[in-house]
Amino acid sequence: MAATGSAVGLGNIWKFPYVAGSNGGGAFVLVYLVCILLIGVPVMMAEVLIGRRGRQSPINSVRDVVLESGADSRWRHVGWVGVSAGMLILSFYAVIAGWALSYIFAMASGELAGVNGDSAAAVFAGLLADPVRLIFWQSLFMLLCVLVVVGGVKKGLGVAVEILMPLLFFMLLLLLGLSYFQGNFAAAWHFLFSFNIELLTWRGVLEAMGQAFFTLSIGMGAIMAYGAYMPQKVNIGKTILIVAFFDSLVAIVSGLIIFSIVFGTQGIEPSAGPGLMFISLPVAFANMSGGLLIGCAFFVLVSIAAWSSAISLLEPCVAWLIEAKDVGRTNANLLLAGFAWLLGIGSVLSFNVWSDIQLAGFTFFDFLDFLTTNIMLPLSGLLIALFVGYAVKPEFINLEMDDISPIMLKVWRVSLRYIAPVAISAVFVMGIYDKFFS
Ligand code: PHE
Repeated sequence: MAATGSAVGLGNIWKFPYVAGSNGGGAFVLVYLVCILLIGVPVMMAEVLIGRRGRQSPINSVRDVVLESGADSRWRHVGWVGVSAGMLILSFYAVIAGWALSYIFAMASGELAGVNGDSAAAVFAGLLADPVRLIFWQSLFMLLCVLVVVGGVKKGLGVAVEILMPLLFFMLLLLLGLSYFQGNFAAAWHFLFSFNIELLTWRGVLEAMGQAFFTLSIGMGAIMAYGAYMPQKVNIGKTILIVAFFDSLVAIVSGLIIFSIVFGTQGIEPSAGPGLMFISLPVAFANMSGGLLIGCAFFVLVSIAAWSSAISLLEPCVAWLIEAKDVGRTNANLLLAGFAWLLGIGSVLSFNVWSDIQLAGFTFFDFLDFLTTNIMLPLSGLLIALFVGYAVKPEFINLEMDDISPIMLKVWRVSLRYIAPVAISAVFVMGIYDKFFS
């Protein structure tokens, strides 16, 4: 449940639809699902395995598994790429989650009553233009994360997620039904599931792969940190398949909802970018009786999904700081959340005051997003696959995987040793080439 809570978040509801929208839809979705199954699931299993074997923070778990396996000590760096990516992601994740928080109140106050495509876009633009409001909501969200992580992962999070995830799912199904009748469902279906190869670029493939990593929370120690809490008798393969299934389902359902509304409303384009969800959904809510109340509840649930994801970004670093530097849990939290918060101000400003400043052709927010999702996560995933595929002692792997069928174990190992490394490297090289040199 906690792993599902980490996986299901803004990546599914906010990011997947807009990234799929900017990349032309269907072909992107297919590549994304293939990446989840072929690369994401095997790497996620490998991450959990390291965590459960080490039973510490990701960095120390990796270190101990390296020592235990008698592997080259340079493998120890595997944990670092991921954990640093996690901090960078947390910085902008809190800003976006802040938008969701602010929309709870925008719904409740009636600011979004009766909006159409254009006026919803104007309300959203108004929020982005105001750094003070953005920083207020970002800070509030960060505070909520600190509150949970200070208390430790097990109780608060585990219990909350068990109740709230089913609720979120129920709400999504409700919205799906609604968008079926109110929006242009057929166009949304066609957009997401018709495979139009001409629209697919290598850059799009790289983004699909990055999105697969991002949405499964892999490549940054989050899942490794949770693996450290996983009981020995739980079957890793089955658990991960279930998490990946629900995660993909939430993304696809969110996509169907959002695009039904987009294609049924004037003034919203599928390629609208990060604002897509914040513009399209209010339009749907405005057209429904009791819509503001339902909208309010929806953004509460999105905020909670973001919350249960963000704490899993903070926890790995906090756990490491406590273990390695003997810092207390509260101080470790304040220090790291403070750092992510400060960096997050850069993302806040990139939507307004700094919107003209470019780094390698990106705004600050887009730069961090691209750097983490499309470069650091695949790199970290590649290292994890190679590490578990080649360097970890087979007897440890057999110990952790003794409840999986021999054929599946073989498939998994082949995937870690050959399929994932080759696929990640190829997509990575072609995607970067496509982005910067073609
Ligand atoms: N998987 C989360 C989402 O889709 C984001 C996340 C990434 C959470 C990495 C934790 C670690 O929103």
